[in-house]
Amino acid sequence: MKTYDVESCEILRKEQLTKDIFDVTVRSEMAKAAVPGQFAHIYVPGKTLRRPISICQIGENTLRFVFQIRGDGTRLLAESQVGDSWDILAPLGNGFSLGDTSRKVCFVGGGIGVPPLLEAAGRFGENAVVITGFRNKDAVILQEDFRRAGCSLILTTDDGSAGEHGLVTQFLPEDCQEIFACGPTPMLKALKAEAEKRGIPCQISLEERMACGVGACLGCACKLKADTESGWRYGHVCKDGPVFDASIVDFT
Ligand SMILES: Cc1cc2nc3c(=O)[nH]c(=O)nc-3n(C[C@H](O)[C@H](O)[C@H](O)COP(=O)(O)OP(=O)(O)OC[C@H]3O[C@@H](n4cnc5c(N)ncnc54)[C@H](O)[C@@H]3O)c2cc1C
Ligand code: FES
Repeated sequence: MKTYDVESCEILRKEQLTKDIFDVTVRSEMAKAAVPGQFAHIYVPGKTLRRPISICQIGENTLRFVFQIRGDGTRLLAESQVGDSWDILAPLGNGFSLGDTSRKVCFVGGGIGVPPLLEAAGRFGENAVVITGFRNKDAVILQEDFRRAGCSLILTTDDGSAGEHGLVTQFLPEDCQEIFACGPTPMLKALKAEAEKRGIPCQISLEERMACGVGACLGCACKLKADTESGWRYGHVCKDGPVFDASIVDFT
């Protein structure tokens, strides 16, 4: 069943968070259908393919996006101004399955993998420990937003210039009952292994280059464990994900 729509969404707020990361809130009726962890496919004038950006926060009739300039498309999106409109296809994909939000859980984000966790972590509030990792102090984003949502925070940087020095995976609390994560593949692999060791569930949000964004082009294949002769099958990050149960993701 098609649950997404396309809408022209006015930009209500725009802020620059770091030298190359932007924070944009648009007005959107699609917010009513969105769940944490889903993404939007945003049209960039002059580009054939839309750009996938995760939904960072969901308001009553607003969607918030936090994105980094990586190439031409995101550079053009960053040049948009309040009052301009984005043509957005959303909400897409499967988001996080939150389950019982009174459980003690952990959100782990690396770099630009942090924004997709904000809405979900906020629903757990004080039951969520949010561990975020960045290259250095100049790359740190969204700490105040998680704090305002009631979450406990552990900040780490690779060079120790802010927060703790080290990898996010070192700081997982003993009483964590589920891990939710988004970030670089080595971090996700390490979390999947840690969750297996502890015998707790782990949901991870994957990123893959995308074309259609709705499961029609096979552009975003990922390897999933399956009950097949080979032991695996291809899935679509855009349609089967971007959030997957880590235990079925085949990182080999
Ligand atoms: C489900 C999903 C959610 C995402 N959420 C965010 C987010 O919240 N914030 C954020 O900063 N970035 C996010 N990304 C990454 C973002 O989509 C890319 O950085 C962006 O598409 C790059 O486009 P570009 O034109 O600037 O770069 P170019 O390199 O010029 O892009 C060329 C083509 O490659 C595709 N592409 C390039 N890099 C990526 C990538 N890493 N992932 C997917 N497609 C890529 C582009 O969409 C475009 O079609 C997400 C990606 C996915 C798949
Ligand atoms: S992007 Fe077309 S199938 Fe996923």
